[in-house]
Amino acid sequence: MAKTGRWPGTAANSVSGKVCVVTGAGSGIGRALALELAKRGARLALSDVSDGGLAETAERARALGAGSPGRGVHTARLDVSDREAFFAYAESVVDELGVVHQLYNNAGVASSGTVLTSDWSEYQRVLSINLFGVIHGTQAFLPHLVASGDGHVVNVSSLNGFMAQGGLSAYSASKFGVRGFTEALRAEVLAAGQPVRVSVVHPGGVRTSIASSAMEHAKASGHRVTAEEEAQQKRYDEKLLRMPPEQAARIVVDGVEAGRPRILVGRDAQLVDVVVRLLPAHYPALVARLGRASSKR
Ligand SMILES: NC(=O)c1ccc[n+]([C@@H]2O[C@H](COP(=O)([O-])OP(=O)(O)OC[C@H]3O[C@@H](n4cnc5c(N)ncnc54)[C@H](O)[C@@H]3O)[C@@H](O)[C@H]2O)c1
Repeated sequence: MAKTGRWPGTAANSVSGKVCVVTGAGSGIGRALALELAKRGARLALSDVSDGGLAETAERARALGAGSPGRGVHTARLDVSDREAFFAYAESVVDELGVVHQLYNNAGVASSGTVLTSDWSEYQRVLSINLFGVIHGTQAFLPHLVASGDGHVVNVSSLNGFMAQGGLSAYSASKFGVRGFTEALRAEVLAAGQPVRVSVVHPGGVRTSIASSAMEHAKASGHRVTAEEEAQQKRYDEKLLRMPPEQAARIVVDGVEAGRPRILVGRDAQLVDVVVRLLPAHYPALVARLGRASSKR
């Protein structure tokens, strides 16, 4: 790896004029990615399960010039866990825009609960969206990215893609999975000499509604959420989810333009990366101790 963190032999690669697909674009990091790409002159294909959130992102992207002639914004409702729908979606994007250069597999959900008490259905839900959604999207778009002659797959994992946390087994399993899948893909395209770059993104805490949406989902599924759990959630959000999504998106797109295979977002992700490398066998005990200490506060 060159000192720049760039892939050997690759030059900086602007997103301007590229067709970029972003999943989960209706909120948070996905919305910020769409707007950052729009600012840098990309053409956009945006999707989400939230029609309202998606419409707002598309409107804001158009206001940034993404809707000007030749730079229309393609929008579609897409549940990334639906494999058939993802393949049909890929065809519709290529039919409409002619080519696809970059795929940002961003859509994801959070979930909490211990291994002992979590329902199997919750593991299925989280893995279907966070891991299988990434696999479906990559398989659906990869032939088109290769055909573009200048493709890039950008899969959003997490700090929990290299550090597992108690109470987050489904989420951690999904995000470790995204990392493994993405690194295997990178090895494959390099071995095959295909014109596709591959990046895995590991954000630390970003100020989005991911945690509150998970809480809402738990309540809607009939789980009793105590006032103390809700208060703890709020404290967690305020303390740990701090980086504005716009800043996270800038870091990601800078990393993509620089051709970085591994994009760490935030000092928290960078610090945890070092700690886990130094203490690969012992970090879970450290995480448990920190978790106990913070729940007393
Ligand atoms: N916010 C953080 O601190 C953080 C940290 C690490 C990783 N991430 C990852 O970043 C990604 C974006 O999360 P965010 O923080 O912006 O959350 P968010 O909740 O603000 O946005 C997630 C978006 O994904 C959409 N979505 C949910 N299920 C979907 C499905 N089945 N199909 C399509 N879209 C779906 C939601 O409607 C929402 O618009 C996720 O993969 C998440 O795991 C977030």
